[in-house]
Amino acid sequence: MIYGVGIDLVENDRIEKIIQKWDEKFLCRVFSDREIEYCSRHAQAHIHYGARFAVKEAFLKAIGIGLGRGVKLREIEVVNGQSGKPTLKLYGGAKDFFQQAGIQTAYLSITHTKKYASALVLLEK
Ligand SMILES: CC(C)(COP(=O)(O)OP(=O)(O)OC[C@H]1O[C@@H](n2cnc3c(N)ncnc32)[C@H](O)[C@@H]1OP(=O)(O)O)[C@@H](O)C(=O)NCCC(=O)NCCS
Repeated sequence: MIYGVGIDLVENDRIEKIIQKWDEKFLCRVFSDREIEYCSRHAQAHIHYGARFAVKEAFLKAIGIGLGRGVKLREIEVVNGQSGKPTLKLYGGAKDFFQQAGIQTAYLSITHTKKYASALVLLEK
């Protein structure tokens, strides 16, 4: 049974400007060490950060709650497998919510162009 679906679209320029302004302060608040390592090894890191930001917002939409309601963005992590396929790994409040809601599986897809990054999250109960 489908629990929820969420979608988000990010303007990569906006993320790039935030990173230029706040650098580590922003990155460490929003992204895991593994996400920072993954994005920073790409020439256009801000596009990959944008994609992960879109995933986090799409996840919040899929579970149906907003930020500041016990889930932090850093607790929602994108991990790329050998083939590049992204999966979700959850920690803390995000993991607790997931378990308490009885959600079994999270499906995730990402796409990006130079200008935009988008993500879709589907949760199955
Ligand atoms: C996987 C594939 C479909 C991704 O297509 P793409 O247009 O380059 O990807 P997009 O720019 O839309 O999206 C990139 C995201 O796809 C995701 N992705 C990468 N490999 C993936 C895979 N094997 N399965 C699912 N998602 C994947 C990643 O999340 C990536 O973003 P990230 O690096 O920031 O995590 C493509 O790389 C591929 O292997 N295509 C197979 C067909 C082919 O080889 N065609 C070439 C001849 S025309």
